[in-house]
Amino acid sequence: MSSQIDHLLEENREFTPSPEFAANANGTAELYERAAADREGFWAEQARELLHWHKPFTQTLDWSNPPFAKWFDDGEISVAYNCLDRHVEAGNGDRTAIIFEGEPGDERRISYAELTAEVKKAANALESLGIGHGDRVAIYMPMIPEAAIAMLACARVGAIHSVVFGGFSADSLRSRVDDAAARLVITADGGYRKGRVSALKPAVDMALADRGHGPQETVEHVLVVKRGGNDVEWTEGRDLWWHDVVEAAPAEHEAKAFPAENPLYILYTSGTTGKPKGVVHSSGGYLTQAVFTNKYTLDIHPETDIFWCTADIGWVTGHTYVVYGPLALGATVMMYEGTPDTPHPGRFWELIQKYGITILYTAPTAIRSFMKSGRQIPQQFDLSSLRLLGSVGEPINPEAWMWYREVIGADKTPIVDTWWQTETGATMISPMPGVTATKPGAAQVPVPGITVDVVDENGEPVDNGNGGLLVVTSPWPSMLRGVWGDPERFKETYWAKFADKGYYFAGDGARKDEDGEIWLLGRVDDVMNVAGHRLSTTEIESALVAHESVAEAAVVGAVDEMTGKAVVAFVIIKESYLSQHAPEGLAGQLRLWVGEQIGPIARPRDIYIVSELPKTRSGKIMRRLLRDVADGHEVGDTTTLADTAVMSIISAQVK
Ligand code: WTA
Repeated sequence: MSSQIDHLLEENREFTPSPEFAANANGTAELYERAAADREGFWAEQARELLHWHKPFTQTLDWSNPPFAKWFDDGEISVAYNCLDRHVEAGNGDRTAIIFEGEPGDERRISYAELTAEVKKAANALESLGIGHGDRVAIYMPMIPEAAIAMLACARVGAIHSVVFGGFSADSLRSRVDDAAARLVITADGGYRKGRVSALKPAVDMALADRGHGPQETVEHVLVVKRGGNDVEWTEGRDLWWHDVVEAAPAEHEAKAFPAENPLYILYTSGTTGKPKGVVHSSGGYLTQAVFTNKYTLDIHPETDIFWCTADIGWVTGHTYVVYGPLALGATVMMYEGTPDTPHPGRFWELIQKYGITILYTAPTAIRSFMKSGRQIPQQFDLSSLRLLGSVGEPINPEAWMWYREVIGADKTPIVDTWWQTETGATMISPMPGVTATKPGAAQVPVPGITVDVVDENGEPVDNGNGGLLVVTSPWPSMLRGVWGDPERFKETYWAKFADKGYYFAGDGARKDEDGEIWLLGRVDDVMNVAGHRLSTTEIESALVAHESVAEAAVVGAVDEMTGKAVVAFVIIKESYLSQHAPEGLAGQLRLWVGEQIGPIARPRDIYIVSELPKTRSGKIMRRLLRDVADGHEVGDTTTLADTAVMSIISAQVK
């Protein structure tokens, strides 16, 4: 089968950065030139310029044993020192590191001096529990400052953290704690979500329950932050209150340096098959690219910006753009505990107004759900502090991009659509604000020092104007260093497809436009073969979202006797449209619309109007479940869905 992906969508809008923005931007075109002239030298320069090294490195990249990379291998670094102490020593101890708002409205502002002091105590507390270099610690927490403090304390003592998203079940926690053989679990009694306390500690108790074999054999202690105010069951000898242990710990703690390749964390990502993979990240290389992209891609100016990345710390975005990157830069980050619609649908915009957020980094799925409820909600708030917007997690449809720019960005803020993965550790493809003329819906250009390509099945580059498979063609500083405990799986999953070329295969489809710039087309597994044409889900979904009535769309290929696969679409209609129009006949109109927008081949056979789409907890649409519905099959495994009831609602609406 050819790997060529047909390209249907025409999108020619372009926005050049304003001279004012460009004049103040951290990034310049010169960065690309320097990186192109000497890629490794460029990264070495960035690592030295942006980070403090306890022991300077002399080697940049060791790629003698691919795909196992080493960056800055003979250097020694303390990630915690870089995120904390050095800012205090530089006289910035009074600067706010974290602005926290809980869902019930409680507020905390934590300065760099305070955060450093807290992490020092927490590090002493961990050491008093026997946790040190190389030990694994599971963190299962709500979005509260102690989550970041716990991560940084692990980093400070050289322990490897594995953050498990607080919305995951006891079983998911159990398998992750078990796989990494964690010695300590840090959790909370609960956290606030959707207006009530969602308990966490009971899930930990269940995960650690004795079932013959498992995590109860390695976990010695459970450290519990008091947040939700719930009564909790207590296992004497094992369970300890965070406030008892951390408050009692000594205040002084010296940040020791560790080798650059010391693992900083494991983060599990659920693949399409099999058990979750423990993606392993390093210290020096990871932090270099994390801080670089915070500075240049997100254009954070630590003295003046208030940066809000809305991701939970349970995802990689929360690691790189809530904790490590912004703090290494000395920036002020916003941390919000709850959901965007609690207690009212304008909560995000209220927070932006209240704290004067200047840079907002969120996901297309959030943007589309705001589109569904309508612009009158954000328009009630003063969003004029915003000067830059970012998007991550899924392809952003051009119309969602335009809405984001017009409604949230007052028709002037630049948008950076950043493509990356848990495995890449930090942004890989994105416009650089102030430099790149942006195109709605495109991630466009690799970050300086990153090399990517779009290739066919043989690894040969496709021509401009064509689609294929996205690959990273040379090692990068924040690349995953492996899959925890499973080097074969690491090679097989990411490097086997183009082994002869040494390319990393990301699993995504992409196309190059006439300028050679990159547009993401969604996961290759979701590409549909319709009458011999390979169609990406993204472009058809974008065409649907471009219709005035549609807020969200998901497209799948359903089995079809005539064409092999037929396009089937599931759409969510905007509330504003429904208040003025009857939905009758809309499906027919949308079919014609797609035909007109991108051609008859893409015209959906069926269009179902639904009220919800199946999404993972990180907001990605699970098309495989919709495929089951479209094919009339029993719906497959729904355990990773954010809301497991959604599939029965959709099945009923389709019938
Ligand atoms: C998708 C999230 C298009 C992609 C940081 C990737 C995107 C997967 C974008 C990784 C984007 C992420 N445009 N697609 N800007 N950003 N993706 O591991 O399919 O949760 O492979 O990392 O999300 O998801 P992950």
